[in-house]
Amino acid sequence: MIFQGHSIRVQLRDGGIAELCFDAGKEAINKLDLRTIEELAAATQAVAGTDAVRGVLVTSAKETFIVGADIFEFTTLFARPANEIATEIARRNSIFTAFEDLEIPSVAAINGLALGGGLEMALACDGRVISATAQVGLPEVSLGLFPGFGGTVRLPRLAGAATAIEWISTGKQHKPASALAAHVVDRISAPDALYAEATQTLSSLIRSGEWRSRRRSRHGPFNHDSRVFLEAKERLAKSSAHQPAALAAVELMDRAAASSRNEALELEHVAFSKIARTQAAGSLIQLFISDQTIKKKGREYGRTARKVQRAAVIGAGIMGGGIAYTSAVRGIPVLMKDIQQGALDVGLAEAKKLLAKQVESGRLSADRAATVLGDIQATLEYPDLRSTDVVVEAVVENLQVKKAVLAEVERLAGPDTILASNTSSLSISEMARALRRPENLVGMHFFNPVPLMPLVEVVCGARTSERAAATIAGYANALGKAAIVVKECPGFLVNRILTPYLLGFLQAIHAGADYLQIDRVMEAFGWPMGPAYLQDVIGMDTLLHVLDAICAGFPDRMRIPSPHAVQRLLQLGRLGQKSGQGFYRYEPDPKGRPRKSVDPTTAQLLADGRATSPPPFSDQELLERLMLPMVIEAARCLEERIVASAAELDMSLILGLGFPRHVGGPLKYADWLGMKHVVERCDAHATLGPLYAPTEQMRTAARTGRMFY
Ligand code: NAI
Repeated sequence: MIFQGHSIRVQLRDGGIAELCFDAGKEAINKLDLRTIEELAAATQAVAGTDAVRGVLVTSAKETFIVGADIFEFTTLFARPANEIATEIARRNSIFTAFEDLEIPSVAAINGLALGGGLEMALACDGRVISATAQVGLPEVSLGLFPGFGGTVRLPRLAGAATAIEWISTGKQHKPASALAAHVVDRISAPDALYAEATQTLSSLIRSGEWRSRRRSRHGPFNHDSRVFLEAKERLAKSSAHQPAALAAVELMDRAAASSRNEALELEHVAFSKIARTQAAGSLIQLFISDQTIKKKGREYGRTARKVQRAAVIGAGIMGGGIAYTSAVRGIPVLMKDIQQGALDVGLAEAKKLLAKQVESGRLSADRAATVLGDIQATLEYPDLRSTDVVVEAVVENLQVKKAVLAEVERLAGPDTILASNTSSLSISEMARALRRPENLVGMHFFNPVPLMPLVEVVCGARTSERAAATIAGYANALGKAAIVVKECPGFLVNRILTPYLLGFLQAIHAGADYLQIDRVMEAFGWPMGPAYLQDVIGMDTLLHVLDAICAGFPDRMRIPSPHAVQRLLQLGRLGQKSGQGFYRYEPDPKGRPRKSVDPTTAQLLADGRATSPPPFSDQELLERLMLPMVIEAARCLEERIVASAAELDMSLILGLGFPRHVGGPLKYADWLGMKHVVERCDAHATLGPLYAPTEQMRTAARTGRMFY
C-alpha cells in the first residue's frame, strides 16, 4: 500500500503501476469533497516518493467514477468574497496540477458517471479509457457555474475549442461513442475488460513515451478559431442576462486560448470566483440542495406509507384521464371510472395518442405501450375497490357531487384504502365530513397537464392522518412528481401565493398601467409568461372562479378592484386562448397551436372610458406592484406553517408556476433583496392597500437581518 485515506487508496500493482482508487468508504458514490481533494494531494506525494512507480492508473471502486464536486460544500465557500474564493480554488487546483505533472504517465479508467470535477480529474490524466456503460459531462452550467478544476483549460487543449464550447455551455452528458468522436477519451472498453484495457493503454504510454508529447500540447495554447467563439457568444448572449455562466465560460476560453496552461488556470480561478457569486449560481445551488432535501423527505414518507400497487381514478376528464395515464406509464395499474362512456373513450384515446408519440420517438417499445394501455381499465360501473391502495377522485368541482362520490367509494373500498381528492379549491376537511374514516382522506392537487407538470400538492385536512399523507406523497413520487405536503387553506399553497400577484396586476391595470408593459417587465424578470398572457392561458372563467374562492378566504387583504379587467373580458366572451381572444388575440399557427398577437382593442377596453391617461409607470414600480404581494403571501404561508420549510415553498412555486429558477423562489428572492429593503418598499406602497402590508415577523426580520436561508 502506497497510500491509504478515507476515500482514496494507492496500491502498487504489477509492472510498476500504481492504482489510485477512489473509494469513498460507506458512501454510495465518489465525489470531490474537500477531504478527498486533500487526500489526492497526499496520494500524489506518496506516488512521487515511491521509486518503483512507472505509471498511475486512476480507478473507482464505486458504480460511478466520480460524480463531481461536493455541492453541499459550495454554499459556505461561495459566501466568501470573490478574492478569497479565487485563492482557495487556486490552492485546490494546484493539487490537480501536481498530479498532472507527476514525472510518470497516468490513465483514467472511467467505469461509470464522470461528471464535473470527476471528468476534470480524468482530464488531468494523460489518457482515458471509458467503459461502454459510462457517461461523461461537465454539467456545471445547470448550477449557474462553469468547470473550476481546470475544465475550461484542459478540455479545449485536448479536444479543441468547438467541443469545449459545446460541452461546457450545454452541460450535457455524453455517451462513450460521442466522447470518443470528440477525442475526449482514447478508447471504449467492455465494462469487465476496463481494468485490463486501461492498464494496457497505460503500459503502452510508458513504453512509447508518447505521454510527454501529449503533455506538451496540453501545456501550451490551443488552436483558436475566432469564428467559433464569435458564433457561440452571439448564440449565448440572449440567455446570459439571467444565466451568465455559459457565456462567461466561452469568453474565458477565448481570452485564455493563447495562454499557457498555468496562465489559463489563473484566469479560470478569477472568472470562476466571480461566477460563483452570481444570483444564478446562488439560487441554482440552493435549488439543488432543496431538491435533495425534498427527495430525502420522500424516502422518509416511504416508512409510514402504504405501498401503492393498484390505483383507481374516479372521473375520466382532463385531469382524471391524465392521472390514469401517468399511473399506468409508471407501472401502477389503474382503474378509470366515469359516468359517461364518452369521457372514458376520450380518456383512453388521449392515453393512446401519448403512448403512440413515445413509441414514435423511440422512448417506449410498442409492446410496452400495449401493456401500459392494458393497465388502464375503463369502467362505468363501480367494481370492488377492496384491494385498491389509493382512489383519486377527479370529478367535477362541486362539493356535493364530490362528497357523494367519496362516500360511495369509501363504502366499496377497504378500511385502509387511502382516498384522495384532486380538488383545486374545495375544503378537504369539509369533504371528509361525508366519510366514516375521515383520516383516510387527503387532497392530491395535480397541475394541468398532468403528464408534464412536475408538482403535486398533498393537502392535509384537519383530520387527515400522517399515513394517508405519506401514502399519497409516495404515490405522487412514484408517478415521477415532486410531492409537497401542505396544510389546508384557501388556494392551498401555490394558487394562494399566485393570487396576490394577480391582484397586484389587476390593481395596476385598474390604475391605468399598460398590460403589455407589465408582461414585458415580468418576462424580463424571468417568468415564462407575463400575467396577462398567463390569464389568457388559464382562461377568464376558470381564473375568476379561483380568484373569487381564494379572495373569499382572506377578505381582510385580498380584494379584487371592481370592475376589473378579467370581469370585463369575461362579459365580452373573451375567455382567453380557448375563445381566441382575451388580453391578446390568438390564431392557430400551421400546426394548430395558438399564435399570440397584440389585440388593438384591448387597451381601449381596459382604459374604461378614462379621459386622460395616467402618467406612465416605471418598470421598477410595476415589478414591485406584482412581486411584493407575492413575497408577503409566501412569508405568511411559512409563518402559518402551511408548508414546513422555505425550501419546499420555493420549490413548489418553481415547479408549479415556473417561478424564475435563477431567482430561486419568492423567499429566496426576499433574501436576495434583503428583508429591510422589502419592508421599506412595502411601506412605500402602503397606500395601495393591505395587499402590500408586511407581517410583523417580516418587520422583525428586517430589524434583525434574519434570512429564510
Ligand atoms: P372535467 O370536466 O374535464 O372532468 C370531470 C369528469 O368527471 C367528467 O368526465 C365527468 O363525466 C366525470 N364525472 C362527473 N361526475 C361523476 C361521478 N359521479 N362519477 C364519475 N365521474 C364523474 O374536469 P377536470 O378539469 O378534469 O377537473 C376535475 C377535477 O380536477 C376538478 O375538481 C377540478 O377542480 C380539478 N382540477 C382541475 C385542473 C384543471 O386545470 N382542469 C387543475 C387541478 C385540479
